Amino acid sequence: MVKVENLTKYYGLKQALDKISFTVNKGEVMGFLGPNGAGKSTAMKIITGFLSPTEGAVKVDGLDVVEDSLEVRKRIGYLPEHPPLYLEMTVKSYLEFNAQIKGVERKKVKDSVDRVIETCGLEKYYKIHCRALSKGYRQRVGIAQAMIHDPMVLILDEPTIGLDPIQIVEIRELIKTFGGEHTVILSTHILPEVDMTCEKVIIINDGKIVVQDSTANLRARIPNADHLFVEVRGDATQLQSKIENINGVSSISEVKKNLDTTTYTIVSEDSVDIRPEIARTVINENLELLELKNTSMTLEEVFINVTMT
Ligand SMILES: Nc1ncnc2c1ncn2[C@@H]1O[C@H](COP(=O)(O)OP(=O)(O)OP(=O)(O)O)[C@@H](O)[C@H]1O
Ligand SMILES: [Mg+2]
Repeated sequence: MVKVENLTKYYGLKQALDKISFTVNKGEVMGFLGPNGAGKSTAMKIITGFLSPTEGAVKVDGLDVVEDSLEVRKRIGYLPEHPPLYLEMTVKSYLEFNAQIKGVERKKVKDSVDRVIETCGLEKYYKIHCRALSKGYRQRVGIAQAMIHDPMVLILDEPTIGLDPIQIVEIRELIKTFGGEHTVILSTHILPEVDMTCEKVIIINDGKIVVQDSTANLRARIPNADHLFVEVRGDATQLQSKIENINGVSSISEVKKNLDTTTYTIVSEDSVDIRPEIARTVINENLELLELKNTSMTLEEVFINVTMT
């Protein structure tokens, strides 16, 4: 449904995208992840036809975004980084106006507006002027305008930014319901968000794709890097150097020291189970072993790992 091929973008001399390619199939929800300045918004602006690429091509439903820009826009709903609300309009009139400029038939405008007001939870706010909306509700109106013409493809640039925790959950649920019928690309800095809402993930850094996988595969990769959490009670002054000498331990660091307890994280070399040896060492040091558990890398750590290297 969305096919991006060798997309490169320069702003003057500054390269924002470097030959990125990916495909999102019909009904898929794809998460576009990357640190500030990675190129997420640039890619989204090109996919939606608001910016032209320096090189490469984007096809939406088989149509080229540059050559068939008008046809592509009919098929795409776009929530930009800064939703362009007309502050003097009420939510309802703003949505009606958007329905008209996006080619919704005159007799279907009312139904379309009612539909997005309901889907985006704007029932209490449709009479309010946009200027009086809180940030979170402005974001909802931004999502509502993106959906008003019931597009096949939704491109959402940081849809949950600025929302409170309850709204975040609601908007994530909403986005999940788009999948299946709609094709969705959303950008975020938040890895768990991708985990919760997307089937596919692309991590970009400095204009390049560093990870492109299904969310399930990305999660499956994580337990490989074994981190152990160990808590002991007693005089642990010798423990660290003893553990460092165990075969299969690649590093140990003290995390917290309380009055009589100390906690460490220990990283083992790939596929070596060092837990029995750690337990023996703790006991041999006349310490009490309070806790010993695997803490696999969090998604955040994976993200930092792939973007910092
Ligand atoms: N209009 C512009 N002129 C010049 N450089 C730009 C312009 N827009 C973006 N850039 C640069 O292009 C790079 C990618 O920016 P982009 O906004 O696409 O990143 P992003 O991944 O959306 O970041 P964020 O998470 O902060 O929104 C950055 O280095 C940015 O400074
Ligand atoms: Mg951005």
